[in-house]
Amino acid sequence: MTRDLNRAAFTICVMTAVFVAARSAANGVDLSRTVDLGREIFSGQRTLVAHLRDDDRILPDSAVRCINCHDHADDTASFAPPLTSRYLLSDTRRRGGPPSRYNLSSFCRVLNVGVDPTGIVLKKAMPQYTLSDTDCAALWSFVTAR
Ligand code: HEC
Repeated sequence: MTRDLNRAAFTICVMTAVFVAARSAANGVDLSRTVDLGREIFSGQRTLVAHLRDDDRILPDSAVRCINCHDHADDTASFAPPLTSRYLLSDTRRRGGPPSRYNLSSFCRVLNVGVDPTGIVLKKAMPQYTLSDTDCAALWSFVTAR
């Protein structure tokens, strides 16, 4: 009886250890997969649904790739701002507003409804996207990793 209990306890311990190890391995894989998915979305390897403000028509796939407009990763003057950790995560004056920085939630908001962290509405040139939480988080992981 005692031996059976010991054996059961031992089995549970081993199973727990295997489960914990498998889960942490999966987490490591998930993180790099998330960044990879973000890169694929950014560069247009995934289909994106987007429209312009005040216009319900879905834009063609080829027109809404982030990389089309946010092609550079430095601060040189360009059509659209650089999507880098430095630009998004540090207090920066955007469009004449007070300094602000992005987090996952304000990033997804600007992509979905075109309003920045200080409540300023973006130019119409930046499309408004219908993104799943997973895709938005993947984009966020990608742009803040560079
Ligand atoms: C057709 C061009 C175009 C495409 C495609 C585009 N953007 Fe933009 N984006 C812009 C422009 C222009 C601005 C600046 C708008 C402004 O300052 O009012 C902008 C602004 C932004 C901002 C806000 C930055 C800030 O200064 O606060 C984020 C974040 C952003 N874009 C992310 C993305 C992502 C992610 C994608 C792809 C899913 C994307 N954009 C696709 C043109 C584009």
